[in-house]
Amino acid sequence: MDRIRIVGGNELHGVIPISGAKNAALPLMIASLLTDDTLTLENVPHLADVEQLIRILGNHGADISVNGRRERQGESYARTIHFTSRNIVSTTAPYELVSKMRASFWVIGPLLAREGKARVSLPGGCAIGTRPVDLFIDGLTALGANIEIDGGYVNATAPAGGLAGGRYVFPKVSVGATHVLMMAATLANGTTVLGNAAREPEVVDLAKCLNAMGAKITGQGTSTITVEGVPSLSGARHRVLPDRIETGTYAMAVAMTGGDVILEDTDASLLETALEAIRRTGAEISETNSGIRIVRNGAGIKPVDIVTDPFPGFPTDLQAQFMGLMTKSSGVSHITETIFENRFMHVQELARLGAKISLSGQTAKVEGVSRLKGAPVMATDLRASVSLVIAGLAAEGETMVSRVYHLDRGFERLEEKLTRCGAHVERVSD
Ligand code: UD1
Repeated sequence: MDRIRIVGGNELHGVIPISGAKNAALPLMIASLLTDDTLTLENVPHLADVEQLIRILGNHGADISVNGRRERQGESYARTIHFTSRNIVSTTAPYELVSKMRASFWVIGPLLAREGKARVSLPGGCAIGTRPVDLFIDGLTALGANIEIDGGYVNATAPAGGLAGGRYVFPKVSVGATHVLMMAATLANGTTVLGNAAREPEVVDLAKCLNAMGAKITGQGTSTITVEGVPSLSGARHRVLPDRIETGTYAMAVAMTGGDVILEDTDASLLETALEAIRRTGAEISETNSGIRIVRNGAGIKPVDIVTDPFPGFPTDLQAQFMGLMTKSSGVSHITETIFENRFMHVQELARLGAKISLSGQTAKVEGVSRLKGAPVMATDLRASVSLVIAGLAAEGETMVSRVYHLDRGFERLEEKLTRCGAHVERVSD
């Protein structure tokens, strides 16, 4: 099993190209099941989760072809992928496939809308909380679906004439349930109004693509989304938006090590709250023509408190990385997680590097230390694993991160991107 070996202490200097967003690519790929025409997605990141979803969509009958396009001396693969689901050959998403990635549960929306039925295994995914599916079930029921859970599967059927437009107010903001209801509503009879919908940029990107396919969606990016159903959708060509979590992660890495890095092909407006928090730690951030420049010279890292929240708040997917940064701050910071109830698994691993963190309920108190020392650590989930990389980059000596498959789910060519900026990071295959 691969491990990542980091020798800490180097500043980062150079350019890091930001990939297409994993969390946008996944729902966009799933949206291809809504049409018998070809959906072409550009800027799709090369990640284990994308490969896994390609297998899942193939199981439903999608014909998928990938045109690799090398860019910038092999630094980044911005792939263009064509998805054509002429016929849906299976409306079942089996446990063996869905258990590997929670987002694959989202096929329930398009399958139900297009075929009138879906049998989808209850999901797996990162072990960061209980992550139930009640909002999906209640929301689809509001569109007229009949849903039963049996033997670990969700069995959903639409009424004879298909799903019907409806009203649903999410009792809690959910990115995944917003994606699914928006997709399902595109082909429903009549108009659907979704209240307290997620406002994440990935929801907006999905709405933009669905509209290019012929859907009639308005209000995306606000908490009320309206979807006027249409009889069918066509193909389209769509470019996946930049990965704001990858952007924030590398910005925090530079804030941690010091240096001067341009993050290319990204957009500061996707992560204003996180960038503001990084600025307050003492780093300088400015916008360039095609991205963001981040500089930290000399000055130490100031302690900053954060609270995670749905967009536009501080993203939960950057919480672990920010904690990594705070381990070396010059004071005490508090990090509060409000989205997932078990998203502090990185705490004990960061402690192995010498971090001083104590937990009280949903808040971590981080007392900054002047030095971290390299140690063997274990990746526990996708975002937690990269927080260990951030800490390792600033730790003295060698940090060996095991269970790297977590990183590979969401960070494209991480060691290459960091190495080109002067970090000492390498993949070790046993
Ligand atoms: C997505 C992201 C993930 C991110 C999360 C929150 C993808 C592929 N994943 O996950 O990286 O951390 O948004 O920004 O885009 N909930 C329920 N019932 C439900 C559904 C959700 O209680 O039926 C709860 C969850 O347990 C969680 C909260 O709602 O506490 C938010 O989860 P949600 O926004 O649905 O996360 P995902 O869409 O799974």
